[in-house]
Amino acid sequence: MTYKIAPSILNADFSNLRKEVEAAENGGADFLHLDVIDGLFAPSISFGPAVIESIRKHSNLIFDVHLMIQNPDRYIPDFVKAGADIISVHAEGNHHLHRLVSQIKDHGKKVCVALNPATPIDSIKHLIVEVDMILLMTVNPGFGGQPFINSVLPKISELRQLIESKNLSVDIEVDGGIMPKEAKLCKDAGANVFVVGSYIYRHSEVEEKRKAISEIRKAFSI
Ligand code: DX5
Ligand code: ZN
Repeated sequence: MTYKIAPSILNADFSNLRKEVEAAENGGADFLHLDVIDGLFAPSISFGPAVIESIRKHSNLIFDVHLMIQNPDRYIPDFVKAGADIISVHAEGNHHLHRLVSQIKDHGKKVCVALNPATPIDSIKHLIVEVDMILLMTVNPGFGGQPFINSVLPKISELRQLIESKNLSVDIEVDGGIMPKEAKLCKDAGANVFVVGSYIYRHSEVEEKRKAISEIRKAFSI
């Protein structure tokens, strides 16, 4: 199993976005987690394809685009064009989820289905063979800097058992409130991709950001 760190720029300094993205890359990140929020699916409004396209040419990171928007099928081509490598869509609110997953794969991109904290694993058990990753929200969507929801931990283990029972190599991404302690708990439960936002971007200094990334990596390597 390979472990990956995905800094989320939701709490980054948007007036310095290129530098913030470079700091993540130079700090040893694997993915860049890009939270697209429309203010309808989840509260707060973040950014769209144009911002992603503007940073795409300045980064070699894998762009992990997390769509917290209503009717994401309308915008898949735009996010593909903007440079997304992985597109995550929520199980909640998407009545034709299999069709949406197929649409992303038809564009040649990796596909991930995201579940809010209260949504059971059962909701995606018939889709698990179709996806590259499952994102388990460990906060309620909409904002960075929220506390980790411990009750998601057994859900991580349940999902890892489901994946192993079918001999699949599906990544489990955890997203929200992840700091070193939570990264270790989630790793022990079966997660292998860690979205980290404010723990990294609460620092203004590049060196501090780099240290935060290495603390997370150390936490799940022990
Ligand atoms: C919340 C987003 C998360 C969030 C993570 O809706 O999906 O990716 O930005 O930020 P932290 O690590 O600060 O909880
Ligand atoms: Zn996210």
